[in-house]
Amino acid sequence: MKKVGILGATGAVGLEGIEALTGHPWFQVGNLYASERSAGKTFRDACKLDISRIPPEVAGRVVKEIAPGADNLAAVFSALPSAEAKRMEPEFARLAPVVSTTSAFRYENDVPVLITEINPEHIELLRSQQQARGWKGFLAPEPNCTTVGLSMSLKPIMDNFGVSRVVMCSYQAVSGAGHAAIELWARQRQPGVPQPLPPQETAEPPLLFDGNVIGFIADEEPKVKKEVLKILGRYKKGAIIPAEFPVECFCVRVPTYAGHLEAVFVETSKSCSVEDVKSAYEDFNGRCKEKFGGLPSSPKKAVTVLDRSPQPRYDAEMDGGMTTVVGRIEKGALGDRWIKYLVLSNNLKKGAAKGSVQVMEYLLTQGLL
Ligand SMILES: NC(=O)c1ccc[n+]([C@@H]2O[C@H](COP(=O)([O-])OP(=O)(O)OC[C@H]3O[C@@H](n4cnc5c(N)ncnc54)[C@H](OP(=O)(O)O)[C@@H]3O)[C@@H](O)[C@H]2O)c1
Repeated sequence: MKKVGILGATGAVGLEGIEALTGHPWFQVGNLYASERSAGKTFRDACKLDISRIPPEVAGRVVKEIAPGADNLAAVFSALPSAEAKRMEPEFARLAPVVSTTSAFRYENDVPVLITEINPEHIELLRSQQQARGWKGFLAPEPNCTTVGLSMSLKPIMDNFGVSRVVMCSYQAVSGAGHAAIELWARQRQPGVPQPLPPQETAEPPLLFDGNVIGFIADEEPKVKKEVLKILGRYKKGAIIPAEFPVECFCVRVPTYAGHLEAVFVETSKSCSVEDVKSAYEDFNGRCKEKFGGLPSSPKKAVTVLDRSPQPRYDAEMDGGMTTVVGRIEKGALGDRWIKYLVLSNNLKKGAAKGSVQVMEYLLTQGLL
């Protein structure tokens, strides 16, 4: 069994990381690290979220302050805030592979942004990164959680029909903003109908999740636009050549707990019918099953196609929260080469912790862990 340390263990994603590693056939939970606020406390006392699914022997462990040391870790899963990750992830990567859900290093040229089913060949960059930086480990980030559903749903379309343009609007869950947001939303919930509040025309209104929709998420849209092209890019001669099509989006927060829903409009290079798109997803599922079906965290289906709209409360946990749920695939009034659909991806699981564990599993099978 290989020990995996968790940076940011007491947060929304860290908690999911513990869950994804608990009872894992290849990995076990190693040291739990968090801020000085949590260090020295048991995980049970430090974590403010619902830890009922965490086994008592892990809940009773003492959280450590972040300080790199080998500690016999085979790998590290990082779920730190980005600024802290920028400082600490390289310190750990000197000693062991770091699979990260943070944005700290996603845009560096020698760092891939990995989604197992989409760009496994990009892991070649990890070997050159490791050599060039002279580290025992490397930095292997996963994308932003909103990018995951978009990239997973676009990949089969791009491979079969080409993509010329993409427009996306997201409806993102509160857990995407971390444990403080989850706690704030819980405090804001009131019985009855949410009452209108006085308009605030100039200042940014206080953060209000309950009964509200927030049409701006700091830094989210630039991340999605950049990452999706890197992930769907080609690995060639030691570099990633990003995909070349414009992506535009609005990223919006809605009062749901988990699962980011996105409305996507795609202009394809070749025209295609709804049935063509559905069979492209089926072919993709077949290929994923063949290549990644043996990884313990892989879903039965990489993409699940529904004839209705995916709904976060019903569908976010489908297939262990690891399948990308696509629904309402339709042709619109925009023209023959346009297709539209809704996609749902679990931001905490496929979009963060369990997706990162799946990457670790793949890296292990490729001799990189
Ligand atoms: N939430 C999602 O759906 C999601 C999805 C994909 C990626 N991400 C990314 O994952 C990372 C974690 O997100 P999250 O939602 O889990 O955030 P979170 O709930 O706020 O958790 C943050 C974690 O980092 C620790 N931490 C905070 N400041 C620290 C410091 N100065 N030194 C050491 N540890 C510190 C916290 O420890 P304390 O409890 O001690 O404060 C906590 O364990 C972020 O980079 C985020 O962008 C999140």
